[in-house]
Amino acid sequence: MIVVDMPTPGSEPAQAPVLSRHWDDDESWLLENYLARNGYQGLKAALAMTPDEVIDLVKASGLRGRGGAGFPVGTKWSFIPQNTPKPHYLVVNADESEPGTCKDMPLMLASPHMLVEGVIIAAYAIRAGTAFIYVRGEVASVIRRLRAAVAEAYDAGLLGPDVLGSGVSVDLVVHAGAGAYICGEETALLDSLEGRRGQPRLRPPFPATEGLYASPTVVNNVESIASVPSILRNGVDWFRSMGTERSPGFTLYSLSGHVTNPGQYEAGLGVTLRELLDRAGGIRAGHELKFWTPGGSSTPMFTPAHLDVPLDYEGVGAAGSMLGTKAVQLFDETTCVVRAVLRWTEFYKHESCGKCTPCREGTYWLVQILQRIEEGDATEADLDLLTSTTNTVVGKSFCALGDGAGSPIASSLQHFRDEYLAHLNGRGCPFDPARSTVFG
Ligand code: NAI
Ligand code: SF4
Repeated sequence: MIVVDMPTPGSEPAQAPVLSRHWDDDESWLLENYLARNGYQGLKAALAMTPDEVIDLVKASGLRGRGGAGFPVGTKWSFIPQNTPKPHYLVVNADESEPGTCKDMPLMLASPHMLVEGVIIAAYAIRAGTAFIYVRGEVASVIRRLRAAVAEAYDAGLLGPDVLGSGVSVDLVVHAGAGAYICGEETALLDSLEGRRGQPRLRPPFPATEGLYASPTVVNNVESIASVPSILRNGVDWFRSMGTERSPGFTLYSLSGHVTNPGQYEAGLGVTLRELLDRAGGIRAGHELKFWTPGGSSTPMFTPAHLDVPLDYEGVGAAGSMLGTKAVQLFDETTCVVRAVLRWTEFYKHESCGKCTPCREGTYWLVQILQRIEEGDATEADLDLLTSTTNTVVGKSFCALGDGAGSPIASSLQHFRDEYLAHLNGRGCPFDPARSTVFG
């Protein structure tokens, strides 16, 4: 069994990057290299506390779920009932698939032990003997990397029946899904993990009381869990000195599309797109920003007027959108809004699980209407039909996929109605598809 030191308070800078600091290091994924940069010291600190003290610490840090909804992580952990004979489970949602979202995969590739350490701490806190990482089946390289890290952790006595000689037992299973977007919805994920077709369950009961095998289960996103070791190492004040009062800490923003240097940009919550673009080299040379998504295609779209909106839960919410997964997709003036929205809607139609009528039928009809508009076969009455069909999906579907499908349509009609009008009555798309590098 390896020996891990207690963390040295005040030894780490209170500034991003934290999650991505070592992504470019040689073989950053190996246990020996992770240990050399304070790895597993957060676990050591956690094991010196009681499980409830760990939950209280994470609660006090104000860490909010990084999967999209921003639910407070420590509060979710505290929901796990302690007066039940049923086992508790921890499930890490690594089924990242929101369009534009690509933060969890690089994190797991470069720093799998950061996630494994977070898993052991979280499992200890909620008194779960078994944890699962449910990861997209398509990302074979990530699955291999995770399984290798888990094997290293078992060999070093970090996982198994006696974690670091503490008597605490934690087992960790890496489970590969089969590539359905809906299996990122937490209850569909649990159905899939149980071996059934992944479809959302009715909530409540929430997984915290009735989750995997009808037992108390915490489902957390990869980035949420990977953020925990640093909080245990450095404390609540360190974490809260970054980000904002109500959205504390650091996070990963994924910039993609017509940006000079696409990629992951780690910053304190509340950074603006203007600041992120400064770091990313701006919109590609000779072009200008037309519209963007703050958190993947399921969030209402923004325009250049929103460049100074703080990208935290409150700032984005006040501006009429959602922070979501922080997948910032950027589109310049060569992009046809209608074509972009059509592509997203085709995605939602394809990924609709079919359980409820508004989403199953509605996404089909939304694609038909958008296709007519894009091809010039629509009239202004079709814009009313598009709005009314969107309204039969949003707020009336069984899970958040339906709401997400309607978001880009409603917000594009709000910001770019003139562009829709320009397509109608035989005119068709005014954009040259050959010039658009995003949606051909
Ligand atoms: P939600 O707000 O319904 O729930 C968030 C979390 O809090 C869940 O784990 C839920 O179990 C828990 N929770 C909420 N109220 C609770 C209560 N009263 N008791 C116990 N637990 C409670 O959000 P949802 O539907 O789980 O996720 C929607 C978000 O997912 C969207 O904001 C979207 O951005 C994001 N998303 C992320 C994707 C990705 O690839 N990362 C893909 C698609 C959507
Ligand atoms: Fe399935 Fe769509 Fe209904 Fe969600 S909203 S349950 S994905 S059909």
